This record gives sequence, structure tokens and C-alpha cells, in this order.
Amino acid sequence: MTPNPLVNLRERLAANGSDAFFSLAPAPNQYLTGFRGSTSAVVVTADRAHFLCDFRYAEQARETVSGYEVEVVEGSLHRRAGALLTELGARAAVFEPAYLLVSEHSAVCEAYQGETRPVPDLVSGLRVIKSPGEIQAIREALRLSEEVYAEVIDGLREGVTESEVAARLEHGFRTRGASGTSFPPIVLFGERSSLPHGEPGQRALKQGDIVLADFGCRLDGYCSDLTRTCCFGTIPGMWFREVYDLVLGAQRAAIGAIKPGMPCKEADAVARERIRAAGFGEHFGHGLGHGLGIEIHESPRLNTQSDTLIEPGMVVTVEPGVYLPGQGGVRIEDVVVITESGCEELSSAPREFRILNA
Ligand code: GLY
Ligand code: MN
Ligand code: MN
Repeated sequence: MTPNPLVNLRERLAANGSDAFFSLAPAPNQYLTGFRGSTSAVVVTADRAHFLCDFRYAEQARETVSGYEVEVVEGSLHRRAGALLTELGARAAVFEPAYLLVSEHSAVCEAYQGETRPVPDLVSGLRVIKSPGEIQAIREALRLSEEVYAEVIDGLREGVTESEVAARLEHGFRTRGASGTSFPPIVLFGERSSLPHGEPGQRALKQGDIVLADFGCRLDGYCSDLTRTCCFGTIPGMWFREVYDLVLGAQRAAIGAIKPGMPCKEADAVARERIRAAGFGEHFGHGLGHGLGIEIHESPRLNTQSDTLIEPGMVVTVEPGVYLPGQGGVRIEDVVVITESGCEELSSAPREFRILNA
């Protein structure tokens, strides 16, 4: 799936003056080895690469992990990773602090007396630029979720609850071959759509309701993430059309502007400035978007703070929103891959203003 993550990791180790790396977290371990189980350890030195798992994953690991010495461990993977670092003669072992609990670190160090050092973004930094295979996997995950959304939205009828619609999305993902959701779907009706990350509940759909759905699946180990907002039967008021056109215009402007070399905060500013100029600035309180891949939220972040420069191969969401408490909200979210000259949209579900069942 990824070209040479192990080679790239070793280059980073050498550049850091470290002679070993260890990880006990699913996302970096999937990136490095292809293994998609929940529990594993990876220990890498300049000339050795070890993969550790327990009995539950022995067969899966032997089938999917290549280029690593696979060891099935009885007892603590953390202690075994520590012991292995000692056996391999590592003097300085580095880890990604965002992916290791303090308690896990202690367990590794019970069996390893060498130096350990946190190196932020050690593997995450490699994951920022997606390979063609990873981009294709995200594209497929998006396509699947778009198909499911189209089916679910066509089947909406008065009286259905937010929870029921969320369940239909989840069911559709699995039925079509996804391993599950990339995050619990957000489905909100009417005035509840002003909750940017509200939890679907027992609110029943009625005429004139906004329908906001933010959803994604996980397919072949990669995530999708999309948001669409429409309304049911009639529009709740002219304000909704104005806000919808504003959010869509801001999103289109940002997607038109994003290109390599641009600081992430500038991309954010393109959308934010439009929304602010229309008088809704205080109602767009989150960042414009985020990277996604093995995890639903990855680097880079498109927000007001990030100086990170946009580079070809990054895959990011573009998801401006306007949320009016007690009234309703609009968010439109698509996914783009950065190209040499701009960006290409990986998602394509219709995003023009839409009244369902009119
Ligand atoms: N669904 C989470 C997000 O859009 O970031
Ligand atoms: Mn989303
Ligand atoms: Mn998102």
C-alpha cells in the first residue's frame, strides 16, 4: 500500500541519531506493516525489523506482514518489546509520544534499560504524504460511502429518527464491504444541525427539517469523511438558502485556491474570510479541514494556526460550516488530494442545494 515506509523510517532514525524505534499503536503499525489488528508491537533497528503480536493475531500476521520477523508473544507485548530492544543492543530507542501511553512506556522500560526518547511525528510525518495506492484506497472508501448516502437519503420518510438514519448508513457500509465506520455517523435534523458534532438521537424527521449527515466508512484500512446538508419537504426559511450558498461558495473558493506551497492557515483563511465578510464569522468556529488516511483525523490541519506548507500527495478534507444556535446549521465536506498545481477532488456526491421529497 505504501512505497517504502521502513526505508523512510530508517532514514529518519539515522537523521535523529537513534538506533531503534518501537511502536505499540495500531495506526503507525498498520502504516509500517500492513497489519490491521488492534494489538501489535513493532521494533525497528538499522538492520532488523520485528513484528510482535499475540495468539489471536498469529495467523493474520503471518498472512499480511512481510519484511518483518514475526513473533507470537505470550504475556505482555510491551515487556517483550523492551526485552527485544535490549537483545538488539539498542542504546537509544525512539517512540512517537502521541501514540504511547505513559503506562505503556513504563512497561517497555521495565525490560529495557537503554535511553528512550519521544520524537513527535516520527511516523505521522511520513504518513502525511499519501502514496498512489493510499489515495486510491481513500477514493474507494469515499465512493462506497457516497453510494450508501445516496440510497439512505432517497429512502428518508417523515418520522424516521436521526439514530435510525445513522444506523442505515452503518448497515450500508458493512453490507457493501466496508469493515465499519471511520467514526460514528453524525445525523442531525432541524435546529439540531447547529451542533457541529452532535450525537444522533430520537428526534423524528418532519417537513421543513434540515438534514445534516457527516459520515464515513473504513475500507481496506483507509477512511472516508463526507458531510452533506439538505432539507426535507420544504426549506426552513430563506435564511437557510443564504447560509447554504455562503458555505458552498466558501468551500468552492477554498478548493479553487488550495495549492502546493500555500500555508495551511491561508487555505483556511480563504473560506473563513468569505464567511466573515457575510457576517457569519462567529458561527464558523472550527478549522477548515484535516488530513485523513488510516485515521480519520491526521496531519496536516487546515486551521487558523497552522504554518505547515501544503504539499502534493496530502489528502485533506475541506469542510466549512455555519451554525446558528437554536436555528440550524450547514456544513459541506469534501476530500481533495493535493496535486502539483492545485488539488483534485476525491469525493463527488452532489452538493448543490437540495430539497428532498419536495
Ligand atoms: N466527522 C468528523 C470530521 O468531519 O472531522
Ligand atoms: Mn466529517
Ligand atoms: Mn472531517
